[in-house]
Amino acid sequence: MSTTAPHSRSKSLWKGKDRPADTPASDFDDLDPVITYRTLFTQNLGVRDPLRVIALCDSDAFYAACEMVRLGIFDKPLVVLQWSMLIAVNYIARKFGITRMMKIQDAKERCPDLVVVHVATYKEGEKEPGYWENPDTRTHKVSLDLYRRESVKMLQMYKEGLPEDTEVEKASIDEAFMDLTRPVRQILLERYPYLAQVPDDAPLGLDTPLPPPPQVSWQQLGTIIPMDPSNEEVDAPSTWHDVALSIAAESMEKVRQQISAKLGYTTSAGIARNKFLAKLCASYRKPMNQSILRNAAIPNYLKPMAFQKIRFLGGKMGDALANEYDVSTVADLLSINLDEMQNKFGEESIWIYEVLRGIDHTEVKEKQTLNKSMLASKNLPKPITQASEGYQWIRVLAAELALRLNEARGTTPNLWPKTIVLSARNVIAHESRRSKQAPWPFVRELTVEVVAAAADKLWKELVDPHAPMKIIGVSLGFTGIEGVESGLKSIDTFFKTAPVSKRALDDDPDEDQSAATAAVGGAQDTSGERLSKNISKDATSFVCSRCGQRSALPRSATRTEVERQAGLLALQLEHEDFHLALELSKLPDDAPPVREAGRAAINKPKKKKRRKESPQGIAKFFSKS
Ligand code: CTP
Ligand code: CA
Ligand code: CA
Repeated sequence: MSTTAPHSRSKSLWKGKDRPADTPASDFDDLDPVITYRTLFTQNLGVRDPLRVIALCDSDAFYAACEMVRLGIFDKPLVVLQWSMLIAVNYIARKFGITRMMKIQDAKERCPDLVVVHVATYKEGEKEPGYWENPDTRTHKVSLDLYRRESVKMLQMYKEGLPEDTEVEKASIDEAFMDLTRPVRQILLERYPYLAQVPDDAPLGLDTPLPPPPQVSWQQLGTIIPMDPSNEEVDAPSTWHDVALSIAAESMEKVRQQISAKLGYTTSAGIARNKFLAKLCASYRKPMNQSILRNAAIPNYLKPMAFQKIRFLGGKMGDALANEYDVSTVADLLSINLDEMQNKFGEESIWIYEVLRGIDHTEVKEKQTLNKSMLASKNLPKPITQASEGYQWIRVLAAELALRLNEARGTTPNLWPKTIVLSARNVIAHESRRSKQAPWPFVRELTVEVVAAAADKLWKELVDPHAPMKIIGVSLGFTGIEGVESGLKSIDTFFKTAPVSKRALDDDPDEDQSAATAAVGGAQDTSGERLSKNISKDATSFVCSRCGQRSALPRSATRTEVERQAGLLALQLEHEDFHLALELSKLPDDAPPVREAGRAAINKPKKKKRRKESPQGIAKFFSKS
């Protein structure tokens, strides 16, 4: 039984003069590890599994593609505009030299037949975003809802189209990582059943290396990154890891074709031994392509690369490395040993050391798909100088939030937020951004009116109409969004449900809907069947389950359904303020700020000011200057 001697291949790649004497022989030495039966049978090798296969799949010209699909235009140069700037350019338009962030006038000069689509916007008074004639930043707010929606569909297709057991992690609006290690191993064992048993004559039992693998035929599987870019003829016998990559490539090819056929989006994928390399090689040849980086090709792929092009090695960190060593390529940096790097850049710089050698042990992990918070924000083109000017923007933001939450409930029906938060950036006041929040009660139907009513109330608390103001940004958000099952307890503490509601809850297969109804939604349910004891039959008053106080709407506020619904909600919110201090202390501390680009973080309730610590070690290269 013969296997390739471990390391032999990678060593031969290192005959170059640039290899310094003090570099340990271990650079790239794990590229062709010995794979034994034990390796194959061990299920939980995790990120150190030598047969690990990871893919990153990214959509081609994503926003542009969404608009192409929406409009049914596939053969024309098309760009997506946000105000006067291009934010996405399809591949046909790229042929004219049009690039993102170019001004529209410049793009049109290059290509007079350019199809120009302005991104959808919210407009005051409209429930849904639309494609209006002349969207204006002074009156409209950009909506990325279409792209978010398509992103969800695509992610769903990865999950459904890839073999069971594939771990899928959303990486951004248009890309996802997949860990195919487990399903690939399964397929490997099915395809090569002789691997499933240690042969009787295996000299080392379980620790016997696997027999030599078959030579992989890469045809139809994508673009193979060559071992030696200067001579593509140079190749090496396949390894078992190559076999694993080829199996992953089959799955990826299939799912990418499904996405293209069903959703109309073309994608580009990278397939390699880890996330870093998968992401890097996904853009090796775009669009509509998948690139496969075999272990043997890693050194020559990485070495000539400008290290500042590597994610996280741009910016300050990259500059610091470039200045310190006066170098520009990955190969240049390989001469710096780990000790030296850690002395200069701190303990954690080990990840730089590893990444330069194609090592990355980060896991592919499905994140909680639901964002615990949701934020709609607007930088105002014309500052608000009078409190009354705020309401128009609140309605625009409320429309976006209502739509997004309802949409999220389309995929996860029992979602509900705990808190609504309004914040404003007042450049005149001492505190530049202030926010107000209130617990979010249950309503049967989450409408723009209901959200706007709650936000209006917060606005009144936030903004003193008599004080001078120059508010340049407003945002409205929901935090603590979670499934009702777990949220039910906290709701119970807000609004104790009546026995009749509990029964309805048991009988109803759509538990959450009835739970919502039971809690406060009775406000809309005129049948009286599911009314909570807290809310009066005619839904114009309620009794606080904690203090027993009844609050009622004035008759003038009950003329229309919307008015009554919003009024009751405002009343509940108002009363909740009474209990707010207590509830705030129970709010989860970790509600993360929304990280999406262009979305400001929600201010957490003010706590004791922590002394600002200056970043240590490597952190200082990533902190804002
Ligand atoms: N995007 C953006 N602003 C940025 C980066 C990206 O608005 N600074 C949007 C783009 O409009 C894009 C989407 O996010 O369509 C995905 O970004 P990316 O994958 O970087 O670019 P694509 O347009 O998809 O182009 P490519 O085919 O090169 O991936
Ligand atoms: Ca993309
Ligand atoms: Ca992307």
